[in-house]
Amino acid sequence: MRRKLVAGNWKMHGTLQKNAVLLSRIAAEAPRLNCEVAVCPPYPYLGQAQLALAGSGVALGAQSVSEHASGAFTGEISAAMLLEFGCHYALVGHSERRALFGETDYVVAAKFEAAQMAGLVPVLCVGETLQEREAGSTISVITRQLSAVLERVGVQALAKAVVAYEPVWAIGTGVTASPAQAQDVHEAIRAQVAALDIGVASELRILYGGSVKPENAKQLFGQRDIDGGLIGGAALMADDFLTICLAAN
Ligand code: 13P
Repeated sequence: MRRKLVAGNWKMHGTLQKNAVLLSRIAAEAPRLNCEVAVCPPYPYLGQAQLALAGSGVALGAQSVSEHASGAFTGEISAAMLLEFGCHYALVGHSERRALFGETDYVVAAKFEAAQMAGLVPVLCVGETLQEREAGSTISVITRQLSAVLERVGVQALAKAVVAYEPVWAIGTGVTASPAQAQDVHEAIRAQVAALDIGVASELRILYGGSVKPENAKQLFGQRDIDGGLIGGAALMADDFLTICLAAN
């Protein structure tokens, strides 16, 4: 039985003051929630979030992670450092990292491996652009992105990982994939993994991300292969985020 996971990706938003309010609301409401909840603040706020969430059961995640363990990599953050600040998850391959910071499938697979080897649970983000969807290549794009990781680390590695399907055209646009569109891709992801290992596939949590809001969360989370959400904009408002978490109950 897959327990639903709702994770907030704060992206480059927040201040100490705003975070304090948001984190204390989430920590206070956490006992009412039946799903697993995680937040992924910007790096400098991980320490603040670690303290604010201590004992709440809410997990902490990072928005990215270096593929290197240590060394002369100015500006980078290693998996071991993230663990010291209480991180359980690390997003890898978010489309903004791929599109704006040049992360290739190869780099994403390396980050996945580095995160997992250090003891973090990678949340592998995959998704097609609007152009790719319109060209009918959605499934081939997702398959390629997932294959890059599978070829590097093997299917068993997915037993300790999460996948997030985030269609690029739905991120921050207010346009959400319909529950049926999302379900189709989630089903294809699970089938790709099942072809290698049925047990791993049936336990794999596949989150949907892309304009998840309080109004559409319940329908999305009701799909057979949707195991929760990766929430951007709506994760910055306590009421919205908590309503979305309740939709996963
Ligand atoms: P929005 O929910 O703002 O569309 O962002 C989704 C996302 O990118 C989460 O990682």
